[in-house]
Amino acid sequence: MVSRGTKVTEFLNDAIKDVSALIPFKYLHRGADFSIVKRAFPAALTMPKFDNRRLLWDHAIEGFGLRQKPMTYVEFGVWRGESIKYFAERNQSEYSRFIGLDSFEGLPEEWLGHHGKGAFDENGNIPEVDDQRIHFIKGWFQDTWAAAERLVAESKSNDLLVHFDADVYSSTLFALTSVNGLGKKYLAIFDEFSGEESRAVYHYCQAYGAGIEFLAGSPATRKYPIRVLCWITPRPLRSEPAVATPSGLQGTRLRTLDESSESRTLGREL
Ligand SMILES: C[S@@+](CC[C@H](N)C(=O)[O-])C[C@H]1O[C@@H](n2cnc3c(N)ncnc32)[C@H](O)[C@@H]1O
Repeated sequence: MVSRGTKVTEFLNDAIKDVSALIPFKYLHRGADFSIVKRAFPAALTMPKFDNRRLLWDHAIEGFGLRQKPMTYVEFGVWRGESIKYFAERNQSEYSRFIGLDSFEGLPEEWLGHHGKGAFDENGNIPEVDDQRIHFIKGWFQDTWAAAERLVAESKSNDLLVHFDADVYSSTLFALTSVNGLGKKYLAIFDEFSGEESRAVYHYCQAYGAGIEFLAGSPATRKYPIRVLCWITPRPLRSEPAVATPSGLQGTRLRTLDESSESRTLGREL
């Protein structure tokens, strides 16, 4: 027999769920994105900030010696090529490689509160460049990452800078998990951090045990940064997964997180 108290509790539980379900999904998410920045990434609110994104890009180039030395630059979201060309023009190493991935058919879905599906559509046209170091890979990230990964592997540089500028959650999450597979610490720039990109970063770090260290942002006038420069450290894979057998764990050992590394900067409750 279900008690009267239990029935009242269940009724109230359902009522709360019904009220929550009345709020459109996109408004819940938009609010949650700022909650994530403030509560999971408080360092993003207090880091140094530059007036605009070009000054932030210059800071990344000068601050990490990327003017002279060979670098691998991967860009998720190219559109007309402004950002990829900016980095390529400022880096002087013939061994650098600049890899830009884009459908050139616009966003795959609505960017909540900003643009609809298909925004930034270039009708499939790739930007014109005369720099042999720049490689554009046309198509959806999900179909083209394997080709990009091969170019990254062939690159002669260990310095990796990844520019995440796909705006929407799904694309950014896919990009983060793809780069995670490279298994190396890298510099990252997010072009629209305080929004869907921060949600993707949070879920990626939670799911993959990766760490993020905030370095600088822009613009200086905003408390919640739009652009962010940071380090991303994938969780180190130190050995093979454990395999349970009838006689216990054999042959291979557990993958363990190196607790002494800086990769565990997350884990904070929202
Ligand atoms: C804001 S624009 C990039 C702007 C550019 N980085 C700049 O600063 O000039 C975002 C781009 O992401 C691309 N994009 C988003 N999600 C994608 C996906 N899953 N696959 C391919 N392209 C995608 C869109 O086609 C669009 O051109």
